[in-house]
Amino acid sequence: MIEAFRGKKPRIHKTAFVHPSAVIIGDVVIGKHSSVWPGAVIRGDFAKVSIGSYTNIQDNAVIHSGDIYSDGKPEYFPTKIGSYVIIGHHALVHGAIVENQCIIGASSLVFNRARIRKGSMVGLGAAVLRDVEVPPRTVVVGIPARPLRTITDEEFKKIKAQAINYAKLAEEYLKAESRSSQARHKWGKPRLRRK
Ligand SMILES: CC(C)(COP(=O)(O)OP(=O)(O)OC[C@H]1O[C@@H](n2cnc3c(N)ncnc32)[C@H](O)[C@@H]1OP(=O)(O)O)[C@@H](O)C(=O)NCCC(=O)NCCS
Repeated sequence: MIEAFRGKKPRIHKTAFVHPSAVIIGDVVIGKHSSVWPGAVIRGDFAKVSIGSYTNIQDNAVIHSGDIYSDGKPEYFPTKIGSYVIIGHHALVHGAIVENQCIIGASSLVFNRARIRKGSMVGLGAAVLRDVEVPPRTVVVGIPARPLRTITDEEFKKIKAQAINYAKLAEEYLKAESRSSQARHKWGKPRLRRK
């Protein structure tokens, strides 16, 4: 479901794939060859959510702009996700920045004003707390997330390769989707004949 909010409609590149069961609302921009998988939610209502190219948002992940309350007044933060980023199944990115070529592991959390620098990896189930910055090419794990080790050159390249492979999978889905909508079109408007 793709929905406008406060007059802002999601802008999704024509080469990007969005599964019909994903929900995308408001001020959201999605770049070329990116993909959004079943059940994922991307909500750009408090502020903008931008997603680069060749990035995948896997099943049931939640991407939202951030809201922080000091003295009872809300302050809003955009969420920015770069290119060649893998957001694993069931992860949450809320009011945070994820730079290019990162992996945000399945079921992990990246919270308000956190920043994941280029080429880093947040481990399965980790929680990157508010205002925390993960340095470039660093693996972090645990709650709260702490550095485990650095990313090797080989792993850094592998993140990009994995993102490109996901884009190929998305392309296959896009083609299948257009074939089935063409088939519906051929069938035309269903009509019952009079006796
Ligand atoms: C973080 C990760 C990259 C670590 O891999 P690794 O460097 O091979 O680490 P190891 O498996 O050798 O484990 C090293 C130590 O870290 C711990 N560890 C590894 N992953 C952990 C995690 N997610 N949370 C907490 N501890 C973790 C291990 O228990 C081990 O601890 P020990 O030394 O006390 O025994 C990997 O576990 C992970 O979480 N990958 C993310 C995958 C993912 O979600 N991809 C996207 C979806 S497709």
